[in-house]
Amino acid sequence: MPGYSDRDRGRDRDRDRGYGGGPRFGGGRGGGGGGGGGKFGNPGERLRKKHWNLDELPKFEKNFYQQHADVARRPLQEVEQYRRTKVITVKGRDCPNPITKFHEASFPSYVMEVINKQNWTEPTPIQAQGWPLALSGKDMVGIAQTGSGKTLSYLLPAIVHINHQPFLERGDGPICLVLAPTRELAQQVQQVAAEYGRASRLKSTCIYGGAPKGPQIRDLERGVEICIATPGRLIDFLESGKTNLRRCTYLVLDEADRMLDMGFEPQIRKIVDQIRPDRQTLMWSATWPKEVRQLAEDFLKDYVQINVGALQLSANHNILQIVDVCTDGEKENKLVRLLEEIMSEKENKTIIFVETKRRCDDLTRRMRRDGWPAMGIHGDKSQQERDWVLNEFKFGKAPILIATDVASRGLDVEDVKFVINYDYPNNSEDYIHRIGRTARSSKTGTAYTFFTANNMRQASDLIAVLREANQAINPKLLQMGEDRGGRSRGGFRDDRRDRYSSGRRDFGRDRENRGFDNGQSKAFSANSQNGGYGGMNTSTTNGYGAAYGTNGQASFNSTQAGAFVQNTFQPQQFAAANAVAQNGVGHPSFPYAQAQAAPQQIAAPPMVPYAMPPPQFPQ
Ligand SMILES: Nc1ncnc2c1ncn2[C@@H]1O[C@H](COP(=O)(O)OP(=O)(O)OP(=O)(O)O)[C@@H](O)[C@H]1O
Ligand SMILES: [Mg+2]
Repeated sequence: MPGYSDRDRGRDRDRDRGYGGGPRFGGGRGGGGGGGGGKFGNPGERLRKKHWNLDELPKFEKNFYQQHADVARRPLQEVEQYRRTKVITVKGRDCPNPITKFHEASFPSYVMEVINKQNWTEPTPIQAQGWPLALSGKDMVGIAQTGSGKTLSYLLPAIVHINHQPFLERGDGPICLVLAPTRELAQQVQQVAAEYGRASRLKSTCIYGGAPKGPQIRDLERGVEICIATPGRLIDFLESGKTNLRRCTYLVLDEADRMLDMGFEPQIRKIVDQIRPDRQTLMWSATWPKEVRQLAEDFLKDYVQINVGALQLSANHNILQIVDVCTDGEKENKLVRLLEEIMSEKENKTIIFVETKRRCDDLTRRMRRDGWPAMGIHGDKSQQERDWVLNEFKFGKAPILIATDVASRGLDVEDVKFVINYDYPNNSEDYIHRIGRTARSSKTGTAYTFFTANNMRQASDLIAVLREANQAINPKLLQMGEDRGGRSRGGFRDDRRDRYSSGRRDFGRDRENRGFDNGQSKAFSANSQNGGYGGMNTSTTNGYGAAYGTNGQASFNSTQAGAFVQNTFQPQQFAAANAVAQNGVGHPSFPYAQAQAAPQQIAAPPMVPYAMPPPQFPQ
C-alpha cells in the first residue's frame, strides 16, 4: 500500500492556471438548475451503459490510509468514548477508528498548510471519522449536521486519492467527480477544491448549466483531476464526447439524498453507468430519508455508513428554532415586524424561504418597493443574475435574500444569522437543510418558521425535530400534531415549488390560504436556547403556556414602520416585556398576538425593476 505523506510530485501536472478560483459567469438561459440541463426530451438518451470487464481495466489503488501511531495506540475504550461524546454511529464492516486531531489524519503537508491557516481547533466529528474511512478506499455514506464540514470530509481524501494515481494523459477525463444538485453549490465546492488542490497543482473545473459551454469544454480538454458538476450539463458533455469518465475512480454524491430522489435519480444512473464499478463511491448529506436508502445501495459496494447525531431526522443544535402557527394571511405582517427587529441587530443577514418562484418574485418586488434591502434568487432567473445576487448577499451588500429551495442545500455563507421559513417546505428534509443555512461551523443562528393549517401533515415531523434538538415547542403546533394523530412522513410532494429548478412536476394541490383562521392568532416568544438573537426583551405576561414562554407582546421599536405592507400594516401597541431565557440569553418574542381580521388581499404592485449591476460578465 503506497504511503501518502509528502512526495515530490516530480512532474508538472500541466500549467497551474488556477482556474476554479472563482465562479465563472455567463449569460444564457434561465431555468435549469442542474436537473435536466434545460434540455428537451431525454437527456443522455444516446449514452450507452458501459459493460465493464474488470480484468481488462488498468488496476488502481484506493486504500491510502496509514493509521497514525497515536491513533493505533489509543485504547478501544477511548475510541468508544470519543464516538459516544460526539454521537458517532458506525454501521458496516472494517471502519477505521476516528482520528481526534488534524495531524492524526496524516495529510500531506501541502494540505495541512491550508488547514493550519484556518485556525480551527479540531476536526469536526464527521471529519474525524470520515477521513480515515474515505482514505481507506471504502464506499461510504456520511450523514452529519448542516454546517459540520462535510465538504472537506470528501475533498481532502479526494486530493490524496488523486495524487496517487497516474498523471492524466491527453483525452483523460477527471479522476474525482463530485455531483451536486445546484449550480451555486457546485461552484462553491469547486472553490474549496481549488483552494486545497492548488498546492499540489490539481486542476478542477465546475460543469453546470446556464453558463457558456466554451470555457467549461476548454477546461475539460486541458485536463482536470477534479470535476464538480450538476448532472444535466455533465450528461450533455458526456453525450457529445467533450469528456469521459474512464479515469474516474472517486465518485462523490454531495447532498446524496437529493441526488437520489426522483428528480435526479435517472440522470445519476446514466452518469454512474459511465464509471468503472470498482471505483470508490462516497455519499454525503445532513438527511438520509428511508426512501433513498435502498436505492443508494445500487451504487455502493460493501459500504460503511457513519452518522453524527441522532439517527432520525435532526437539525443542527446550534440553531434556535421558533415556530409560529398562523394563517397565510398573517404572514406578511408578521414578516415585516420580524424583519424590523432583525434589521436593528448588528448581525442581521437573513434568508427568507418561500415556496414558489412566483412568490419569490412577488415578495422581492414588494419588499424592495418598500425599501427593504432584499434580493431574490430562484431557478427561473438567469445564471448570471443568480450568481450576482448570491455574491451581493455573501459580501453583505444586500442582507436579505429571498429564495426558493434552490438555495436550501449546501450553501455556506458564514454570517447568515436568521432563516425565515415564510412558507413551510414541502418535506421535512428541506426544513433541516433550509434552517441549516445559519449556524455554520461553530456559529449559532435562529430559524423562524410560519406554520399554517396547510402544513398540518408535517406537524409531527417538525415536532420530532424540535424535540430532538431540545427546543421549546409551540403548544399550537403540538395540538396540530395531536389532531393529526401523530402521523408523519407523508410522501406528498407539491407542485409549483422550485426544486432546484429542474422543472420537477409531481402533482399539485392548492396551497393558497384556505381561510384557516382560528381567530386569536397567538404569537409567542421562544425561549432562547443558544442566544441566536440576543438582547431583546420578551413578555412573560399573558401566559401562552408555560412551555412556550409567552404570547409575545414584543417591544419592537423599529422606526421603519409602514414599510412593505402599507395596506395591511396596522400599528400595534407593543407592550414592553421581560426576558425569557432558557440558557441565560434573552430572546425576542416572535410577532404577534394579534386578533386580526381576515387578511386583506394585497394587490400586486406594478413591477419595479430593482437594481441590477452594470453588465460585467462575459456574455
Ligand atoms: N474542522 C473545522 N472546524 C471549524 N470549521 C470548519 C471545519 N471544517 C470545515 N469548517 C467550516 O465549516 C463551514 C461549513 O462546512 P461545509 O459547507 O463543508 O458544511 P456541510 O457539512 O457540507 O453543510 P451542509 O450540510 O449545509 O452542506 C465551512 O465554512 C468550513 O470552512
Ligand atoms: Mg455540504
